[in-house]
Amino acid sequence: MRVDIQGKTRVLGIIGWPVAHSLSPLMQNAACIELGLDYVYVPFPVAPGDLPKAVEGLRALGVAGFNVTIPHKEAIIGLLDELSEEARLIGAVNTVKRDGDRLIGHNTDITGLIKSLQDDLGFDVKGSRVVLLGAGGAARAALVGLCQSGAASVTVANRTPAKGECLVAGFRSVFTGVNLALCTLDILKGDRCLKDVDLLINTTAVGLNGTNFTDLDLAPMAPAARVYDMVYNPALTPLLVEARKHSLRSANGAGMLAAQGEAAFTIWTGCKPPNGLMKSRLLAALDGQDMLDNGVYSK
Ligand code: ATR
Repeated sequence: MRVDIQGKTRVLGIIGWPVAHSLSPLMQNAACIELGLDYVYVPFPVAPGDLPKAVEGLRALGVAGFNVTIPHKEAIIGLLDELSEEARLIGAVNTVKRDGDRLIGHNTDITGLIKSLQDDLGFDVKGSRVVLLGAGGAARAALVGLCQSGAASVTVANRTPAKGECLVAGFRSVFTGVNLALCTLDILKGDRCLKDVDLLINTTAVGLNGTNFTDLDLAPMAPAARVYDMVYNPALTPLLVEARKHSLRSANGAGMLAAQGEAAFTIWTGCKPPNGLMKSRLLAALDGQDMLDNGVYSK
């Protein structure tokens, strides 16, 4: 426990609702302590209707920066002074940095995903053919990241086809060099198209609370193909179990969570967190946690 807070200590934090389950305070404070930086990172529970007041309060209190999580990632945009290119493209902010009197919105989910694909799967996005499961906020960030990193094609498979179409349609004119396509979740039922996929990414909440895709069969995937699940608790989701069954290299989203935190830390402090520290703290904490029925952590 940190006990050396002084008058000059700078405050970082996270706003969300709920926020009690967040593992970001653990990761961020570990890095501050390890590097001897005079910052403290605290949770701020902010109910949806209180967001404008909370942002004004954080501004007035002079916090150095903060993370933004569900349900505020999109709603906060109109309350900020400037957005990074990534945050503007995704339409969501997960990191805010104070710059003088201005609040600048960033999105480090992209960096987090691409770094985790590289570190945890040895996967280079450039020229690859990717299937993205889901069409919500997480899929949007993944799609932008994959396109910016030079994917050859990104095919979106969503339960509600209209939402998938909407996601893809919005980016066709932005990423003209990427083949953006659509398919249904039936691709997961052993469809032959899977043999032409280099990377399959789950951005949906399927896998949490014992849920699974129906009739999941990844048998057609090529031996060198990879599977990534943004869900990280349970550590081994049914999708990852199926990937293992076919000896496909796979990883869960813990690496992405740690890497988005590392990128936020660097935005705020200008320092790189010690290599692997955030991820090891995160994994140690996840190891000791049980998930409740509603998908949040018990401690
Ligand atoms: P997030 O911001 O975390 O991506 P979201 O915007 O609510 O969350 O999006 C959730 C995504 O998971 C959606 O693509 C959703 O599919 P629909 O568009 O059909 O709602 C998908 N999803 C959630 N539960 C699902 C389930 N049981 N089976 C398949 N897809 C599911």
